[in-house]
Amino acid sequence: MAYRSFREFLDALDKAGQLKRVTVPVDTDLLISEWSDREMKSPGGGKALLFEQPVIEGQTSKFPVAINTMGSRKRMAMALGRESIDEIAQEIQLILKAKPPTDLREGFALLKQGIHLLHARPRTVREAACQEVVEILDKDNRASRIQNPGSPNFSLRDLPILKCWPKDGGRFITLPNVHTRDPETGARNVGCYRMQVFDERTTAMHWQVHKVGARHGKVYYERNERMPVAVTLGGDPALSFAATAPLPDGLDEILFAGFLRRKSIEMVKCKTVDLEVPADVDFVLEGYVQPGEMRPEGPFGDHTGYYTAIEDYPVFHLTAITHGKDAVYPTTIVGIPPMEDFYMGDASVRIFLPVFKMNFPELVDMTLPAEGVFHNLVFVSIRKQYPYQAFKVMHGLWGMGQMMFSKYIVVVDEDCDVHNTSEVLFRLCANTDPARDTSIIRNPSDSLDHAPTEQNIGSHMGFDATRKLPGENYRRQWPELLKMTDEAKAVVDALQTRIG
Ligand SMILES: Cc1cc2nc3c(=O)[nH]c(=O)nc-3n(C[C@H](O)[C@H](O)[C@H](O)COP(=O)(O)O)c2cc1C
Repeated sequence: MAYRSFREFLDALDKAGQLKRVTVPVDTDLLISEWSDREMKSPGGGKALLFEQPVIEGQTSKFPVAINTMGSRKRMAMALGRESIDEIAQEIQLILKAKPPTDLREGFALLKQGIHLLHARPRTVREAACQEVVEILDKDNRASRIQNPGSPNFSLRDLPILKCWPKDGGRFITLPNVHTRDPETGARNVGCYRMQVFDERTTAMHWQVHKVGARHGKVYYERNERMPVAVTLGGDPALSFAATAPLPDGLDEILFAGFLRRKSIEMVKCKTVDLEVPADVDFVLEGYVQPGEMRPEGPFGDHTGYYTAIEDYPVFHLTAITHGKDAVYPTTIVGIPPMEDFYMGDASVRIFLPVFKMNFPELVDMTLPAEGVFHNLVFVSIRKQYPYQAFKVMHGLWGMGQMMFSKYIVVVDEDCDVHNTSEVLFRLCANTDPARDTSIIRNPSDSLDHAPTEQNIGSHMGFDATRKLPGENYRRQWPELLKMTDEAKAVVDALQTRIG
């Protein structure tokens, strides 16, 4: 089911008992963050929170703050309008099965076609909820209301943007959908890149070097052209999820979100930049990035659980803010896991598992445990058939899109449940001789990883924790894993049932 607005999604959460309303005033400076961290760390991810009276610099904001809305398996599935994320994985599998692709590139091409066929193509509209209130910023940095004349000036300071951690360099927009276009091909991209507020009309644009927004930026910088950028907040959560999903460059997030929610997305032209944005979003920040202009960004309490250091990033200049009258400000916080973003990453892995399986037919299951904050740890189970197959799988994964960042990959046999970390660690410890069963490679590293000596490059390690086959330098008889007989289990089951 598609949501017509972010409010409609919040109402659905409320009806399902998944939303707590906080009716007392709570400061956007650290306090909403502390409250939300406690909720995110409660069993199963706690509940979504709606802060109805967020306080910013002593004033109560007129826009409520919603947080942790995707922070559990149930809410993540609800955000995509499904009972379970596995439904989506099954649909993707069906698309891929219609004409089995011969390789990964063809697989993604087919997926793109399939998504088109499923009526995901966006439609353009003239009237939009996100433009009920339009604030065009003039050159003196003041907003002029063109639809609500007479109201006071408006700026970024009016949004209840959080300061998340004590040593953060300022307030950060943490759940933005950043819309850009490749000036050469016209291809659109939507990515979630945090934005540090510098002042009333400028922010940082934290697209890391490996991301599509940064690639689009590079093309504009080389042409020495100002880059139009539109940032949307809220609307159907399918788009916010799609903006975080590691889609291959060229697979349009707007189409993908339309496919996820089974309804095409309505788009509207921006007021001051030549871009289109979804009509149902809560806020649109329109603006541009000027080639060559960089400014120090950070520190920021990141999903690594540490502060990321100050670094230069492009500057986003605001030219207009538009919003709905009933807008809600969506946000999240990141930090020591588990946090809301774990459930978003987990959904991505489950949705794209059929695509991975297509490339690696031996792949049975895969997960990125919360402790690994996405890229640091990957558990994969395989149906092993020939020597060194575990190494083939890990090298293949390191070559696939954002899987290139995977710091540790542990490959286990198909009878090991990768979702049970204890079971995987048992196999890792029991089944490996480190010198024989590991591979260390050099690869691009996640920009946020503070451990490598140099940023963005580092080493990654793979562990073959599968049982060894002839030809894998193991010269003894591989032992048998302990297993009780089915008969003994049945007898004990019956006895225990009898005595309660
Ligand atoms: C809450 C959250 C915040 C994120 N912040 C950033 C960020 O500041 N910079 C960045 O490059 N990626 C960030 N990411 C990851 C990107 O959104 C993700 O890699 C996405 O696939 C990028 O899209 P792209 O491939 O279209 O560039 C964040 C992800 C989440 C879930």
